[in-house]
Amino acid sequence: MTKASDVFTLRNNNQVEVSFIARGGQITSIKVPDANGEIADVVIGYDTVEEALAGDTYFGAICGRYANRIVKGQFELNGQQYQLDTNNGPNHLHGGVDGFNLRTWEVEEVDLPQFAQAYKLSLVSPDGDQGYPGELTTIVTYGLTEDNELVIEYDAVSDKDTIINLTSHAYFNLDGAGIGTIANHQLTINADKFTPIDGEIGTVTGEIADVKDTAMNFITAKAIGEALNADCPQVKLVDGIDHNFVINGYDGMVRLAARLESPSSGRAMEVYTDQPGVQIYTGSHFDGTETGKQGKPIEKWAGVALETQIFPDSPNKAHFPEATLKAGEYYRHTCVYKFI
Ligand code: GAL
Repeated sequence: MTKASDVFTLRNNNQVEVSFIARGGQITSIKVPDANGEIADVVIGYDTVEEALAGDTYFGAICGRYANRIVKGQFELNGQQYQLDTNNGPNHLHGGVDGFNLRTWEVEEVDLPQFAQAYKLSLVSPDGDQGYPGELTTIVTYGLTEDNELVIEYDAVSDKDTIINLTSHAYFNLDGAGIGTIANHQLTINADKFTPIDGEIGTVTGEIADVKDTAMNFITAKAIGEALNADCPQVKLVDGIDHNFVINGYDGMVRLAARLESPSSGRAMEVYTDQPGVQIYTGSHFDGTETGKQGKPIEKWAGVALETQIFPDSPNKAHFPEATLKAGEYYRHTCVYKFI
């Protein structure tokens, strides 16, 4: 049996190291070299496992069963109304009060030829868990390749029709956790459209809007700070970016979703996924009161999360991608974080 505090590390031959704990499958560090071989830990978090267990439980965690917000925690499926936990004002966020980020996953090392090292994390969520129908069995594979890709593969199956949207919630800072903010990072998002939100609590309106002429335009690389400081109503609502972007050309195949680069360290990363959306969250609620890595306060905009996903509140928005998982059918989601 795996214990909540058990730590696992993936390594390759290029000095890349990814560590995670069993509780929430939380990725606690990703160490990558820059062009000069200088290693930095590029995810926000804590120095010790004890602090990680006591700290922000979304840091690097697997979020589910439904990542992001479901308005009022309600949805209808097969003519039946379901009420989920509400843990974000009146809404449901990241799977509820006791989401997958708080569960201890069973972890086992697996030998897969495409990876330098890989682990399989499994979890069985009972029928009715947080209000969701069906017993859901989830397997998440963390694999590290010799091309410096952290590949996250999500597989799940339910014994009743249900809804699902799993994601990973690491916050990246390519200069190293604790070193400034991500305002200087250049971001490119492969998205001509995004889903606007309607208030501080961040639920989507259902509109699919053009990024053109808004601060959300990252079609070509732009410093994130330019958007954070823009006089844009969508940015003002959440003091930053906390929005789902509609990945161009979605067809269920793995494609580029976003690219992040720090001009100061020269480190870059690309995000690939077979999902239709990516939530970009600039960590606007961090306020410096929490101590993170190297004993440094976790400041506003200290990191940026790039969460590949189905759109927020899809179960209540008929024109959004399908979030229903039929009994016995397989949910599969691939997310690749490639470090360059
Ligand atoms: C993000 C979400 C933010 C915030 C965060 C968790 O995915 O978009 O609004 O809730 O998770 O702290």
